[in-house]
Amino acid sequence: MISKHRSLSSYCGLLPVCIVSAAGLLLVVAFIATTAVQKNMAAVSSAQTKGKVYFDYVVQNGFFAQSDKATDASSFDFTKADMGLLNRTYDTDASFDPKKEKTQWQRFEYYVRHLNQSASAGVSYKVLYLGRHGEGWHNVEEATVGGKLWDCYWSRLPGNGTVTWQNSNLTPLGIRQALAVNSFWKSALADAKTPAPETYYVSPLERTLLTANYTFNGLQLPAQKPFQPIIKELLREALGVHTCDRRDTKTKIHSLWPQVTFEAGFSEDDLLWDPDFRESGGHQVNRMLHFIDDIYANDTNIFISCTSHSGSISSIQQGLGHRQFQLQTGGMMPIFLKAQQRSGPRPDGKIDPPSKPAICSPPPGANITLTTGLATATST
Ligand SMILES: *[C@@H]1O[C@H](CO)[C@@H](O)[C@H](O)[C@H]1NC(C)=O
Ligand SMILES: *[C@@H]1O[C@H](CO)[C@@H](O)[C@H](O)[C@H]1NC(C)=O
Ligand SMILES: *[C@@H]1O[C@H](CO)[C@@H](O)[C@H](O)[C@H]1NC(C)=O
Ligand SMILES: *[C@@H]1O[C@H](CO)[C@@H](O)[C@H](O)[C@H]1NC(C)=O
Ligand SMILES: *[C@@H]1O[C@H](CO)[C@@H](O)[C@H](O)[C@H]1NC(C)=O
Ligand SMILES: *[C@@H]1O[C@H](CO)[C@@H](O)[C@H](O)[C@H]1NC(C)=O
Repeated sequence: MISKHRSLSSYCGLLPVCIVSAAGLLLVVAFIATTAVQKNMAAVSSAQTKGKVYFDYVVQNGFFAQSDKATDASSFDFTKADMGLLNRTYDTDASFDPKKEKTQWQRFEYYVRHLNQSASAGVSYKVLYLGRHGEGWHNVEEATVGGKLWDCYWSRLPGNGTVTWQNSNLTPLGIRQALAVNSFWKSALADAKTPAPETYYVSPLERTLLTANYTFNGLQLPAQKPFQPIIKELLREALGVHTCDRRDTKTKIHSLWPQVTFEAGFSEDDLLWDPDFRESGGHQVNRMLHFIDDIYANDTNIFISCTSHSGSISSIQQGLGHRQFQLQTGGMMPIFLKAQQRSGPRPDGKIDPPSKPAICSPPPGANITLTTGLATATST
C-alpha cells in the first residue's frame, strides 16, 4: 500500500515538489524523506496483506433503523429505540417462538445464529456493536476554536496550558455519556434481552479504554461472556499530526489498564503516529476493512463490541457499504453483516498516501509559535 511502489511518479503524487524544466529534459525532484510513519504504515499494511483470507461484506438492511436512509442520525436516540432494532418477524419465529413470548431481540438473536449455522461454506454473519467514545477534551477544543483552526494549529499541540488533549481524557460530560450507555445496557440485558457482546475490542487510546470501561463495567453479564477488552491497534483513530490520536506506550497502557489484554504483536511504542503526516481517508477505510477481516477470520463469536472513534466508525461504514450514520460522542450503533470468505490477501488497490497538512499562523490568543514537529518536541 503506502510507499510500496517507490517510483518517482508516486513520490511526485505525494509530498514532493516536481519541477519539469522548460525543455522537459530535466526533472528535479525535491521530496521530503519518507517518514517513519510512512514506513511503518507500509509495514502494517504489508503484514495485513499477507493474510491468507479476506471477506466481501454485505450489510443486511431491514433489521436496524440506522441502515435505513429515512432515519435521521442527528435526532435518533438508540437508547430509546432498542438500539434501533426494528419490529418485524423472522423466518425462524414460528419454530422458535410459537407462543409469541420472546422479545424482539431474542427472536433476532435466534435468527442470526440460525443463519450463521446454516450458511453455505465460507459465509458467516456477525452483529457489530460500534461505540464512539464519550466527549474528550479534544472535542471541546475543536468545538471551541472551529475545525479549521483546530486542524491547522491547535490539534498539533498537546494542549493549551489549561486543558490537555494529547491522547485525550474524557470530560465530565464524556463520562456521563458513557455511563448513560451503561444504564442503557442494564435494561437492554434485563428487559429487551439484547445479547451481550461476546468479544470486546477497543482502540488503544485512553478515551476509548475509559469509555469501554464506563460502559460495560459492573453489568450483569452472562458468566461465560465477561467484560474482557482486547486492544486492537487497527481500531484507533486517523493516524498522525493530531496529538489526541497518539497513543501511550504499551507499558503505560498496561499500568493504567492491568485487566485489559493486548492483541498479539502490539508494539511498545506508537509506531504509527507521525507529527507531520496524517493518514488519508482511503487508507483509514482500508485499515478498518483489515480490522473487520481479522475479526471474521479469527473470532467465531457473533455479537462483537468495538469501542472506537468517529472517523474510524465512519470509515467502517464506508468500507462495508453502510450508509453514513454519524454517531454523537458516546453513541452506539449496530451493523448486521454478512460476509463471504475469499482466499488470498485483500486486494487493496490504489490507496492515497498520507498528506502533510498546512500549518497556519498562530491564532489570536495563542502564545506558542507552532513549527513542524513541535508537537513531538513538547509531548512526553
Ligand atoms: C415495536 O413494538 C413495540 C411493542 O409492540 C412497541 O411498543 C414499539 O413502539 C414498536 N416500535 C416501533 C419502532 O415501531
Ligand atoms: C483551553 O481550551 C479550553 C477547551 O477548549 C478552553 O475552554 C479554554 O478557554 C482554553 N484556555 C486557553 C488559555 O486558551
Ligand atoms: C501560554 O503558554 C503557557 C506555557 O506554555 C501556558 O501556561 C499559558 O496558559 C498559555 N496561555 C495561553 C493564553 O494560551
Ligand atoms: C474498569 O474499571 C474498574 C474501576 O477502575 C476496574 O476495577 C476494572 O478492573 C476495569 N475493568 C477493566 C476490564 O479494565
Ligand atoms: C488472524 O490473526 C492472525 C494472528 O494474529 C493474523 O496473522 C491474521 O492476519 C489474522 N487474519 C486476518 C484476515 O486478519
Ligand atoms: C459462524 O459461522 C462461522 C463460519 O461457518 C463459524 O466458523 C463460526 O463458528 C460460527 N459461529 C457460531 C457462534 O456458530
